Amino acid sequence: MSSYVVLARKWRPGQFSDIVGQQSVVRTLINAIRTQRIHQAYLLTGSRGIGKTTIARIFAKAVRCENPQISENDFKSCDQCVSCKEITAGNGVDVIEIDGASNNGVDAIREIRENAKYLPSTGSRKIYIIDEVHMLTTAAFNALLKTLEEPPAHVIFIFATTEPHKIPATILSRCQRFDLKRVTTAQAQTRLTEVLAAEGIEAEPAALALISRASEGGMRDALSLLDQAIAYSAGKITTAAVREFLGMIEGQALAEILRGILDRKPQKSLEMIHRAYQDGHDLKILTRGLVNFLYETILMKAGLEQGGGEDLSSEEREEIRSLVPLRSLEELELIFQALHYSLDQIARSSQPKVILDILVIKCAMAEALVSVDGASAAPSAPAPQPSRPVQMTAAPAPRPVVSQPQPVQSTTPAPTIAKPATPPASAPQGPKSWEGFIRHVKAARPMLATILEHANQSDFSTDVLVLLFNSEDAYFRDQLQAKASSEPLTALAKEYFGTIRRIKVDMNDSKTESVAGRREREQKTREDAARDAVKNSAVIREAQNLFGGDLGPIELSENNPHV
Ligand SMILES: Nc1ncnc2c1ncn2[C@@H]1O[C@H](COP(=O)(O)OP(=O)(O)OP(=O)(O)O)[C@@H](O)[C@H]1O
Ligand SMILES: [Mg+2]
Ligand SMILES: [Zn+2]
Repeated sequence: MSSYVVLARKWRPGQFSDIVGQQSVVRTLINAIRTQRIHQAYLLTGSRGIGKTTIARIFAKAVRCENPQISENDFKSCDQCVSCKEITAGNGVDVIEIDGASNNGVDAIREIRENAKYLPSTGSRKIYIIDEVHMLTTAAFNALLKTLEEPPAHVIFIFATTEPHKIPATILSRCQRFDLKRVTTAQAQTRLTEVLAAEGIEAEPAALALISRASEGGMRDALSLLDQAIAYSAGKITTAAVREFLGMIEGQALAEILRGILDRKPQKSLEMIHRAYQDGHDLKILTRGLVNFLYETILMKAGLEQGGGEDLSSEEREEIRSLVPLRSLEELELIFQALHYSLDQIARSSQPKVILDILVIKCAMAEALVSVDGASAAPSAPAPQPSRPVQMTAAPAPRPVVSQPQPVQSTTPAPTIAKPATPPASAPQGPKSWEGFIRHVKAARPMLATILEHANQSDFSTDVLVLLFNSEDAYFRDQLQAKASSEPLTALAKEYFGTIRRIKVDMNDSKTESVAGRREREQKTREDAARDAVKNSAVIREAQNLFGGDLGPIELSENNPHV
């Protein structure tokens, strides 16, 4: 049985033109060789498996090749001369590879210095590649610095590291530095396709897109995952198989979940999320996928597709394209904010599914935007509104804010408001109230009204409607500052108060209660009362006498007779 060579090793590029991505690094190095302006020290940085060692070796080979093929954009080593053959076989005496991790002491560097004095055995250049150079000890770096200060003319150093910040500035300043980038999903996918074609293995394109995305920019990781996919699949590599061994949710499913949200059919999204959850998918990864897809949707909607989106397979791109007409740009932005903001919550929560489910419903039910004129924008007419200056961002000369909660029209008394309401000095008389305004907003824009309920203070005594939020509610403030919210809100405020011309949103950690806060507190008071009633009921006391122990959590139902 022949031994299997892992793809990453078998497919290590041997020429500049085989390297995926890293174009500017490659171009600069080729130019340096062509024009014979070769530095004495290079530093290649970047994350794991993106080509640092590979590029160092290709460069060394090209520099020493006796019969290179030089064209305008390329520099090919011949792979036939003695030097090329030695380097390929890994036994060249003039290209010396040192693992900085295991040769990190001062003695190792002194040895290099001694050795570097001697001319190469063949050719004109001697090249030292020091990998993981950040592992050197301080003494070793000092010894290396001496060499870099007065290097023999025939010597080139190439350092590689994933952790450039651990390299002393004195060393850094003597190197030409290249920061290698992660490869894009599209680049990785193209490479995987080439490799499989050469290996004679079939694969669904979407399966390779999944692998590429999962490898997060690491080409070695992409090839290793491909090894696994080959081992996992009998014959053709399918999306389903890849999804299974990656534990991932596929792009099409993501697009369908998003479609349910944007098409105001949350039921379908909830079902798919439920299934994914039951299959053991991580809901944070799923939500991040949704955020990414929505981001691409917004780019397409805004006509900026060129700017991003290269991380998508063409199938996924088409899926996303079909989502674009479902909502206006402003609504997409609002939903994006909501999803993006919840990522952390979902990651931290012990009930991530509850949060995600509710979020999906909220986003799906978000009403069509109301234009500044107050007319409902037809959902089928997604043309963005002409942009108007957002006045609230330009704060005027600070005016003292009258900061008391407005009288509340509620049947339930609010007995323990920390800061009792005093009659506002200049608040408008009559029926205009904060709660009345929230009701007014709710009729047109329920999502907006929910946000307003979290404001702990409001002031509409001047022509500026001032809304203040606790710092922990910064999310709501951010939402209101987004144009998609601020414009319709300003319009609604003009409509309701008559006197308001613009809005101002800010933070203020006061003890004043928001409408939402009060509602929560009242609910809690009611629950406590109910709990007391239950605790004191004769039946329960009897039971406790009989069985001992404490009461477990008490669940309240709507028609609890004790409330
Ligand atoms: N840019 C790339 N183009 C093509 N293949 C690549 C690229 N980067 C990595 N590979 C593949 O991954 C393998 C490992 O790459 P390489 O050793 O150059 O990574 P590295 O950046 O030095 O990683 P490490 O930090 O782990 O040393 C190569 O053999 C090759 O198959
Ligand atoms: Mg390496
Ligand atoms: Zn050669």
